[in-house]
Amino acid sequence: MVSNEFLAKEILAHGAYLCVRRSNGADVRSAGAAGIPALADRLGLRNEFDPGGTPPHGWIAFLRRQGGTPGDIADEDVLHADGVVHVVSKRAETVEEFCAETTRLLAPAARVRVLSGVMRPKNYTGAAMNNWAYERQVVQQPGPLMPNAFLVPLSKTAEWWRKDWMERHTYFLPRYDDGGRMTSEGHALATAAGIPCLLRRTYRNATEPAVDGEYDFLTYFECSDDDVPTFHQICAALRDVKRNPEWRFVREGPTWHGRRLASWGELFS
Ligand code: HEM
Repeated sequence: MVSNEFLAKEILAHGAYLCVRRSNGADVRSAGAAGIPALADRLGLRNEFDPGGTPPHGWIAFLRRQGGTPGDIADEDVLHADGVVHVVSKRAETVEEFCAETTRLLAPAARVRVLSGVMRPKNYTGAAMNNWAYERQVVQQPGPLMPNAFLVPLSKTAEWWRKDWMERHTYFLPRYDDGGRMTSEGHALATAAGIPCLLRRTYRNATEPAVDGEYDFLTYFECSDDDVPTFHQICAALRDVKRNPEWRFVREGPTWHGRRLASWGELFS
């Protein structure tokens, strides 16, 4: 058994998705109107809708529901979220304060489910994989250019977590038989079509595996309207266990599809 002690532990950023569900036709927009933009300003959060420059303390995004598809893990709060607010910062206290204060402000009008995680260095990515899968990837674009947002929380099974990290690593690459013929593409090759057109972001749970009721990974994607079919195509490729055996160990939560917006005011207008 190759011990987990060799995995990168450093935390690069703290992030959260606040899944907001309106309570019985309540006025969610007004409930947050004065407080949420002011809170974001006070915490030094800049809107991802208009990326560029370096914000003092982090980023915020407002996403309005377009639809949702159930996954293996039932999760009504994510599936039926009317809006999702994303917040990310290098400072844990910035994210914690935003989540606590937003939940408090919206309490009379909405239920807020907070999914939070941390960004860590990549463990299964050497120089060539980095050049191939990350250096060529599209960076975040202004909202109007890539208006679609997909949130896909997921967990891996106990069987996955029992494997040592060297075995887990093998699932990201193609597999070959003794004659050198490819038997499966693996995660990275199966998703290759998404590299130039999908913004990708993955938070990991602070503990691995996550405790019951939380997800191991919060994956998130942005793309243009033209590239929505590519998003669905690479998800289908990942789910095809003949092409990507890794997904035998994956349990997905709902896939939530949203539209990126410029402000809180537009979210529940
Ligand atoms: C768009 C094309 C994609 C490419 C090129 C890609 C590539 C990769 C690579 C190279 C890693 C390993 C990172 C490391 O070194 O730790 C990874 C991890 C991961 N990817 Fe993707 N991916 C893509 C799309 C997706 C999609 C659509 C999902 C989910 C629906 C997804 C979920 C994940 C998860 C959860 C991990 C972490 C897995 C773990 O550590 O066990 N990826 N991806």
